[in-house]
Amino acid sequence: MNIYKEISDSVLSKIKEIPEIKDYITPQILNNIAIEIPKVRDFGDFSTNIAMLLTKSIGKKPRDIAEIMVPYLEKLSNVANVSIAGPGFINLKLKDEYIKRMALTDNLNPDTQKIQKIDLDYGGYNVGKTLHIGHLRTTVVGDTFNRIARFLGHKTKSYNHMGDWGRPMGLIIAWILENGMPQNVDDVNRMYPASSTRAKEDPGWLEKGQKITVELQSGNEEYKKIYDTFIPMSLNQVNSLLKRLNILTFDENKGERLIAEYVPEVQEILDKKGIIEHSDGAEIISVKQDTDTEPMPPVMWKSSAGAQTYAAADLTAIYYRERTDNPDAIVYFTDNRQTLHFKQIFRAARLAGFADGIELQHIGFGTITGADGKPFKTRDGNVPSLDEMLNIVADSVRTRVKESGKQLPNETIEMIALAALKFNDLMHDVKSDYIFDVDAVTNFEGRTGPYILYTAVRLNSIIKKAEGTAEITNCKLLPEERDLLMFLLDFNRIIEVSFERRAPYILANYAYDLCKLINTFYHTCPIMRDDIPEDVKSQRLAIVKQSLRVLSQALDLMGLKIPEEM
Ligand code: ARG
Repeated sequence: MNIYKEISDSVLSKIKEIPEIKDYITPQILNNIAIEIPKVRDFGDFSTNIAMLLTKSIGKKPRDIAEIMVPYLEKLSNVANVSIAGPGFINLKLKDEYIKRMALTDNLNPDTQKIQKIDLDYGGYNVGKTLHIGHLRTTVVGDTFNRIARFLGHKTKSYNHMGDWGRPMGLIIAWILENGMPQNVDDVNRMYPASSTRAKEDPGWLEKGQKITVELQSGNEEYKKIYDTFIPMSLNQVNSLLKRLNILTFDENKGERLIAEYVPEVQEILDKKGIIEHSDGAEIISVKQDTDTEPMPPVMWKSSAGAQTYAAADLTAIYYRERTDNPDAIVYFTDNRQTLHFKQIFRAARLAGFADGIELQHIGFGTITGADGKPFKTRDGNVPSLDEMLNIVADSVRTRVKESGKQLPNETIEMIALAALKFNDLMHDVKSDYIFDVDAVTNFEGRTGPYILYTAVRLNSIIKKAEGTAEITNCKLLPEERDLLMFLLDFNRIIEVSFERRAPYILANYAYDLCKLINTFYHTCPIMRDDIPEDVKSQRLAIVKQSLRVLSQALDLMGLKIPEEM
């Protein structure tokens, strides 16, 4: 249910009945009508500018046009009161009965008109490199976006475009040739950093790594055997972390390696199109346009050493996804240092004639910084791994819980920590940088994950303790109840907007605002007190139940779990 749409539709259909007005409702007017929920709702639940839009074409003052409309709008069965404000805004106040019925029977089924097919590209982890803070946003925002899209009924396919076929592979194999197969997780984590540090000091070692990479890519059996052994070890590690983060399983772990199979086909197409140029032994595609005002370097299709490039994998992946999925859109979630890369790739794809009718979209993130505005580091100056991040947050939660004199099982601490970390990530607009402050994110008050979980736990415990029915009765709504119900009714619209704008932060902030309203309601509208009449109690319990239903859904979309107690 989208109350917004419901109200707009009924207002518009009423206005189209008005003889003096109906002929002026042109498609252009319809496009510009705003029906909004005013910030201060003393005079109305919805407000519209429709009278002002018609003043030119009708040739009357907006207030006069509004006067004509009022009696018609008053006839709407869901409207209690219509008033005119300011220069000619029309305010509609809804009937309590209507709000109660709509809000408390809403089963949150989305009303998606056009189901879209979307390929999502997030994660994109690198073999041999531990997942670190730089992977947090692509993982958390990508996953939540995926859940939102699926909730709305869209068909998504999530791709983990693994970095598993580039120079690091050659360096890892070089390390293994010297040191033997990794024996444990620590070895797996050590191979690449050790080898890459050495490559920085020793050009011979770097060259060796590059040579192995090219030979691996051209089918060297020995290297392939080594490769096939360490890849699953690395994947295992990624998967156990994703599990800890409660991230949906990727539909495809198809990255640079698996896409390699299709590179020759794409090569042939590019050659036929004549868009490949040779430059110092490399193969490049020029994507510059006359109107460019910023530097636009060519796409590196093949390196001078003959290796498959990062760009080649992405371009080929577009070709592959078009052929296998033919989606309406391909959406990428990475940090914004890759903005230029994706611009280049999207242009190259169009030049090659790929992705016709497919929207190609890159959502670029800002950086997670420390208080000094520089990329976040741990106390000892290192880039923290995601595991470490979670540990840091969990320790802070543990301390807080201890200080409050409570004892919670470790599983609960983990759930709270996950909420703290993920919610903090989700609530910021992806495009901007944000400061990570562990004390702030684990606070049980304020715009934090723990506050939201706590609210859900509270609702759960009310329901557990409550006896009796939870039904709509004839009791009048108090303002706090009314505000809460109106907000609950906005859930579906929020999800739609979060999806359309590729902006899970809208959902996250909705969840917080919802919790604030729930807590205000909880403090002003007692439920279990002995002096509360049965019918009031029943209706309030129904409000609690619906609040929990909406909040649980929001939490689920953020990949968070509600603990038993907190
Ligand atoms: N593996 C890349 C990196 O760590 C990110 C991959 C992003 N996705 C993509 N299709 N290029 O920088």
